[in-house]
Amino acid sequence: MTKIDIGEELEYIEKVNKINIGKNLKYNILTMGCQLNENDSEKICGMVEKMGYTKTDDISLADLVIYNTCCVRENAEEKLFGKLGEVKKLKEAKGTIIAIGGCMMQEKHIVEKIKKSYKYDVIFGTHTLHKFPKDLYNAIMENKKITDILDIDGEIIEGLPIKRDDNIRASVTIMNGCNNFCTYCIVPYVRGRERSRNPEDILAEIESLSKSGYKEITLLGQNVNSYMRVEREKGLTESKIDSFAKLLRAVNEIEGIEKIRFTSPHPKDFTDDVIDAIRDLDKVSKLVHLPLQSGSTDILKAMNRVYTKEQYLNLVQKMQDKIPGVKFSTDIIVGFPGETEEDFEDTLEVVRKVKFEQIFMFIYSRRIGTPADKMKNQVPEEIKHKRFDRLKKLYEEIIAENNKEYIGTVQNILVEGYSKTNSEFLTARTDTNKVVIFKGNRELIGKFIQVKIVSEHMWYLKGEII
Ligand code: 5AD
Ligand code: SF4
Repeated sequence: MTKIDIGEELEYIEKVNKINIGKNLKYNILTMGCQLNENDSEKICGMVEKMGYTKTDDISLADLVIYNTCCVRENAEEKLFGKLGEVKKLKEAKGTIIAIGGCMMQEKHIVEKIKKSYKYDVIFGTHTLHKFPKDLYNAIMENKKITDILDIDGEIIEGLPIKRDDNIRASVTIMNGCNNFCTYCIVPYVRGRERSRNPEDILAEIESLSKSGYKEITLLGQNVNSYMRVEREKGLTESKIDSFAKLLRAVNEIEGIEKIRFTSPHPKDFTDDVIDAIRDLDKVSKLVHLPLQSGSTDILKAMNRVYTKEQYLNLVQKMQDKIPGVKFSTDIIVGFPGETEEDFEDTLEVVRKVKFEQIFMFIYSRRIGTPADKMKNQVPEEIKHKRFDRLKKLYEEIIAENNKEYIGTVQNILVEGYSKTNSEFLTARTDTNKVVIFKGNRELIGKFIQVKIVSEHMWYLKGEII
């Protein structure tokens, strides 16, 4: 991927900083949606802090309020409009600057609604995040509303400042966009076509994270296991690291990084080289996120997922045969158009068979512009909710069963800090992403330690240091 020079845009960081100097300004940010959005927000925070704002969790103190939005499901829209209604009073009282960015801003009908009915200063999209300093500068200097959206795919942007929330675990975006067009999903329309960052840039970022003391890296993308595929097929890369498996192997070599996770892959791109890399590489988590979406072959077809129930189960079996101790987490949508009781039973059957460690469950949400929204056979809300509750019940039974297997085992875990819900305990996560709490002193934070699991409590395990 060719890099573009964003030097001119970044000069605006300094320009805004000059205006703000000595004013002790504060900003508040709300991030909706997935880890990719969280990673984008870390970049927004990096730019904003260099522009002279410090972060506050108290929105009433903020001089700049930023919403980084998601549009994967409808509830995020309701949430944003609620928030925009509330922040209006703050703007009227003290002139708070309101900036709205992210996926929802790539939807024309949403931007029109905001323009018509809400107060804002800057609207920016997923492809114009790096232009936020310039847009903010113009909004301040010219005292006018700025809308800066690009409909075509943006370039890969390198070199933005970043302010990370955590100092032990870091997320690194390796690719943007998606080419899969699952029929329910809005992502390809708001994040554009798949494009990968150069491996050299990714590795340099991770090396620098390692030097700053980070121990765990999560590689992010909408479809990580097709990393570099487009570039490879179009002959756009000369790098030796031209696949996801090769990238994993290269990241595994980086000294100081001790745990590697990635999300989300697509079952159709789980080629043998990726499976072998997970098996071979000691730092790569043996919890594989394998989005199922539905267990019914008919529904999978209607979703354009390009695998059947049997192919999914065969893939699980293949990984279980090849990778000792492999476990799975997944995403499931209930109530996709046309989903019958039988189809839903198929989903439950796959859940029972695979015994997922973690399930992200979603009720199907109609998204304007997607093929599934136009399907005639929408499932009534009541049925969707009933199925969701049944899936949740099964999930809880499976969690309880899975948890029992942990009792008495010794887990090698990275201590993350004090538990947010109980400050007497430290918190960490197993390789399979289960939260473990245990007593210990603060010197352990950032280190890998051995903990014996003594009890299970549904959403977390309790352990003792050995
Ligand atoms: N409705 C419900 N869930 C959805 N997802 C994506 N689009 C929709 C939708 N329209 C879920 C999928 C995806 C996860 C990130 O969000 O399960 O894997
Ligand atoms: Fe959406 Fe499917 Fe792409 Fe995931 S793979 S982002 S669900 S279109």
